[in-house]
Amino acid sequence: MILYYVSTYVSLIASVLFILALRGLSSAKTSVNGNRFGMAGIALALLGTQIPVYFANLDINLSSALTTILIVAVLGGVIGYIIAKKINMTSLPQLLAGFHSLVGLAAVFISLASFFCIYGTQSTNYDSIRALEMVLGATIGAITFTGSVVAFGKLQGIISGKPWRFKGQRQINILLGCCLIALIIAFVIKQTPELLIQTTILSLVIGYLLIMPIGGADMPVVISMLNSYSGWATVGIGFSANNTLLVIVGALVGTSGAILSHIMCKGMNRTLVKVIFGSFSSQNESSNTHDEQSHRNVKLCSPEDAGFILQNANSVIIVPGYGMAVAQAQHVIKELADELKSRDVSVKYAIHPVAGRMPGHMNVLLAEANIPYEDVFELDDINHEFGQTDIAIVIGANDITNPAAKDDPASPIYGMPVLDVEKAKTVLFIKRSLGSGYAGIENQLFYRENTMMILGDAKKVCDNLIKELKDR
Ligand code: TAP
Repeated sequence: MILYYVSTYVSLIASVLFILALRGLSSAKTSVNGNRFGMAGIALALLGTQIPVYFANLDINLSSALTTILIVAVLGGVIGYIIAKKINMTSLPQLLAGFHSLVGLAAVFISLASFFCIYGTQSTNYDSIRALEMVLGATIGAITFTGSVVAFGKLQGIISGKPWRFKGQRQINILLGCCLIALIIAFVIKQTPELLIQTTILSLVIGYLLIMPIGGADMPVVISMLNSYSGWATVGIGFSANNTLLVIVGALVGTSGAILSHIMCKGMNRTLVKVIFGSFSSQNESSNTHDEQSHRNVKLCSPEDAGFILQNANSVIIVPGYGMAVAQAQHVIKELADELKSRDVSVKYAIHPVAGRMPGHMNVLLAEANIPYEDVFELDDINHEFGQTDIAIVIGANDITNPAAKDDPASPIYGMPVLDVEKAKTVLFIKRSLGSGYAGIENQLFYRENTMMILGDAKKVCDNLIKELKDR
């Protein structure tokens, strides 16, 4: 009895630690502590969840239960350590999608296992609530699984990032959604294995169909949405396995993922309803095709010219994007900023909510390079400053600066708030080519009067800029 209470309190403390972890992770400053709370929560949760197993299943004695925990924890820890050491920062989004798919799959297996382990026994019939929990666990888990596999494929470049569309797509989705609801209700009433399997298979198909039409610049919302789904799938696992802690943790992940999706939608100027039904992104082709723009002039700029321009600047705003992550240029950007600051130039960083390939991607990289938090500003807080700034240095960013989002109703990113870099007196664009970004659309900024392109790898170009400045 005492151990049962110990287990309950351990689970309670673990839940509080998870809440503190989420709170800590909400800001770069407190994120390290947030991670520590999370790790302590997981350690306690492993302990707290395993102790009731000992009580529930008299065949298992405490020492074998604890040995199991130890083996699983060590094995998981080693795998996690290897992945963390090997993974590139640029591959984190697909890693997350991969992890979400595993959570979804676990929810499916646990829901099916809870049903089949007593199916055929005398106590075959669950009450309706229990049956509903079980079928919802399998449904959300299956949707999360195939949705995350598709997201993984798109982020890894295995599946085309372009939205996949066909005639009557919306009608088919609505029809399948209605069939799914009917199957869920039928399972709750009849509780047959056939209905559970059919519901799971249909959910797998729906997960695929929901994510395939979403592409290009809309992927950030998908990532946060799948994060939320994986939380609800965990709630399903918790109900199926009769584990309160998993229900709490799943609800925390599900809710925080939903809030993140809301923030991402706001950042992209989309609505969550459109995201959930997979029908956003304009199907029109942007009016700004490469052919139309290719006749325009591009001003190419050498590091020497850029050094001269920077030497005469009073204020600079640095706009990092995905290319900074690819080039791992954050440390050299800090050096460049320090060099400019030593010349009394005001240096700030402007962060777009969907810059890079995962929420907070740029903040993490800038924090890794020890860039002071007070120099880093979110889009809403800095956009008005470009008009009074001498130079905007755009480093490996593209879509988040594209004015087509403001001027071209036919553009797939139309309506997304972007950084108004073109309002600065001069825009220095550092990237390797005139190619497009993730959304696959041309950026009109390259052809503007006040834009100068410095073509090359972000890290090498910044290195050269530092040398140029130091030589002056
Ligand atoms: P992008 O629009 O993808 O542009 C990045 C640019 O970096 C590319 O145009 C590329 O041009 C350049 N680049 C790549 N490697 C480079 C290197 N080594 N050195 C210099 N430049 C390099 O990135 P963004 O502006 O950060 O916008 C993010 C995009 O990703 C948005 O469309 C967003 O919707 C999408 N997305 C975001 C997320 C999240 S959650 N943040 C998730 C999925 C998708 P070159 O090839 O010419 O060098």
